[in-house]
Amino acid sequence: MISGGIVIEYRWLIEHAVKALEHAYAPYSNFKVGAALLGSSGKVYLGCNIENAAYSPTNCAERTAVFKAVSEGETSFKALAVVADTTAVITPCGVCRQVLAEFFDDQAVIILANLHGHVEETTITKLLPGAFTGDRYGL
Ligand code: THU
Repeated sequence: MISGGIVIEYRWLIEHAVKALEHAYAPYSNFKVGAALLGSSGKVYLGCNIENAAYSPTNCAERTAVFKAVSEGETSFKALAVVADTTAVITPCGVCRQVLAEFFDDQAVIILANLHGHVEETTITKLLPGAFTGDRYGL
């Protein structure tokens, strides 16, 4: 359930993610996901999953939000909230974890939530320990 300082601080960001979920284009899975990404500038980028008849071009809500932000010049982030109509909180897929690892450090808060008031707080290192990153390999 909603508890803890950081989760309360970012409750408003979860509400943005819920609004983004309403735009999900998910006619194949009927599984709608919303994301709200807070940039270091203070700007919020919304994302939803966008499915495709060919299935594999589908883009998750988290990546939609990150790609919107980066394409608008923002590459540093304070927080991400993700929400879905699940029993337990939604957790990002492996591809999204890798994309988040490109731009998130451990100061960035990742909030996983559902539409029923369950919320968990995590970080990219907890979601993807030992991530392949440019820093690690001097790329
Ligand atoms: N999906 C997301 O958008 N984010 C996640 O964290 C997990 C999965 C989407 C992809 C697809 O449109 C649908 O959920 C079912 O996998």
